[in-house]
Amino acid sequence: MATLGNRRNGGYARKRLWCAIPVSCALLIIISFTFIFDLGYKHREVTPEVMITPMASPSMGSPPSPVVDRCSGRYIYVHDLPGRFNSDMISSCRTLSKWNDMCPFVSNAGLGPRLNNAEGVFYGTEWYATNQFALELIFHNRMKQYECLTTNSSLASAIFVPFYAGLDIGRYLWGYNTSVRDATSRDLIRWLKSRPEWSTMGGRDHFMVAGRITWDFRRLTDEEDDWGSKLLVIPEGKNMTVLVIESSPWHKNDFGIPYPTYFHPSKDSEVQLWQERMRRIRRPWLFSFAGAPRPNITDSIRNEIIGQCRQSRRCKLLECDNGRSKCHSPSSVMGMFQRSIFCLQPQGDSYTRRSTFDAMVAGCVPVFFHPGSAYVQYVWHLPRNHSEYSVLISEDEVRDGKVRIEEVLERFGKKEVMAMREEVVRMIPRLVYADPRTRLETTKDAFDVTVEGVIQRVKDIKGGRVPDFSEAESWKYAVTGRGGEHEWDHFFNRTSQ
Ligand SMILES: *[C@@H]1O[C@H](CO)[C@@H](O)[C@H](O)[C@H]1NC(C)=O
Ligand SMILES: *[C@@H]1O[C@H](CO)[C@@H](O)[C@H](O)[C@H]1NC(C)=O
Ligand SMILES: *[C@@H]1O[C@H](CO)[C@@H](O)[C@H](O)[C@H]1NC(C)=O
Ligand SMILES: *[C@@H]1O[C@H](CO)[C@@H](O)[C@H](O)[C@H]1NC(C)=O
Ligand SMILES: *[C@@H]1O[C@H](CO)[C@@H](O)[C@H](O)[C@H]1NC(C)=O
Ligand SMILES: *[C@@H]1O[C@H](CO)[C@@H](O)[C@H](O)[C@H]1NC(C)=O
Repeated sequence: MATLGNRRNGGYARKRLWCAIPVSCALLIIISFTFIFDLGYKHREVTPEVMITPMASPSMGSPPSPVVDRCSGRYIYVHDLPGRFNSDMISSCRTLSKWNDMCPFVSNAGLGPRLNNAEGVFYGTEWYATNQFALELIFHNRMKQYECLTTNSSLASAIFVPFYAGLDIGRYLWGYNTSVRDATSRDLIRWLKSRPEWSTMGGRDHFMVAGRITWDFRRLTDEEDDWGSKLLVIPEGKNMTVLVIESSPWHKNDFGIPYPTYFHPSKDSEVQLWQERMRRIRRPWLFSFAGAPRPNITDSIRNEIIGQCRQSRRCKLLECDNGRSKCHSPSSVMGMFQRSIFCLQPQGDSYTRRSTFDAMVAGCVPVFFHPGSAYVQYVWHLPRNHSEYSVLISEDEVRDGKVRIEEVLERFGKKEVMAMREEVVRMIPRLVYADPRTRLETTKDAFDVTVEGVIQRVKDIKGGRVPDFSEAESWKYAVTGRGGEHEWDHFFNRTSQ
């Protein structure tokens, strides 16, 4: 049996058992992509890797510094991994998923097929049917545009490992024994440790993207029915910084970064136009929800959410539980979010959902029911004060029938709603991954924010500035920077419940 003695991990194992039933899993995994459009590569001028700008030094005594290296402290070295760790998986894309053909989704540098605008919700052309598990490919391609790459690893502030960890494990999660599931990770670790870069800091300046939820890489035992691989629990994996679409509240080595959405602008002006539209669009629905119930998860509040939405004339519901549902159509989902003031984001099979990011890109204020769904996850990308851009309603109160969501949301005045929406709209650039074949002019996208976060973290590690706290309190340090009692303790209590 699994030695996962806590509710979340225990619950996770239980939930994943449900997920072992192929039909429901296929539903879960096929997120929505049916439109195939082709797009030739848009080549854009790329600025030189290293920008040297002259600067006059006003300081006396020391000789004036003739040049200042704008990349100083920001250089990244990218490991040149053998193809079996990344590009080979793309060329054999048919083997990537047991349930659906991933080949369309690796097109366009990982963005997937271009979306058409038949329903008039996308306006521009920078929209793609992006798969939620394509982040490793998008991030790797985006890294090729990074302005401060170096081939000299001793200059680098951080070392990027372009391993497609999620695409790898995605092939073996169902029906493969633990040695198969761990094989590529072990192979990678052998390769990394044979490189001189590893020995500099024992891998603590290395980072990589694992574009699935952290629980797919946190197998604690070698029991065959325990879930996932061990990538994040082996000592080498613990030394690296791993970027995942859902991190663990109780571990130090993983950081949540946004799920990819459908929006991939390639110019600042495209982002600004979109933001302007989302500020002005008419939003007839007070709140909305897109999702399916979770009948096999006993403490899920999805039934209550769906029930409350059905009962309200001001709620719009897009149910995902039948085959003809439009909930897998990007334009239906995005169209609904654009016309809603608030978007409900309860947990699903795990804490987080891609839908949160789709909704925020549509300028919809997210309503969370657990702080694990965003606040303790995306600490580099979201404002620390969550009341500025979102609403938290405790899921316990919903489960116990103590709150009516509509009443809570109605209480916000027009001004408060406007302020929250403005905050969401201002965040949009930080939440989307720009087209990785280009680079935005001055706007920072989710990639830029992530790289800054990683570089700061490696600096803190080098400078001995990472506070020494117990792993169990990771979420608290991520949110507040300190330990002690916190009003959310009961949400993350691993011994009770
Ligand atoms: C790499 O950078 C280091 C530190 O700046 C320098 O000493 C070394 O000469 C560089 N190596 C190469 C091959 O340029
Ligand atoms: C795991 O599965 C692989 C491939 O199916 C097989 O070759 C190997 O012997 C299995 N290992 C164990 C320990 O069962
Ligand atoms: C992890 O990093 C520490 C500190 O640099 C180092 O001593 C240790 O050997 C590293 N672990 C592995 C497995 O490389
Ligand atoms: C819930 O579990 C039952 C029994 O294992 C299974 O038959 C059913 O398909 C599951 N429901 C869903 C929605 O997966
Ligand atoms: C957080 O934001 C809310 C809403 O803007 C505001 O009322 C509150 O004072 C802020 N809290 C802190 C600690 O800044
Ligand atoms: C966590 O659970 C334990 C065991 O049920 C309980 O004793 C403790 O008070 C709980 N802590 C919080 C903060 O809820």
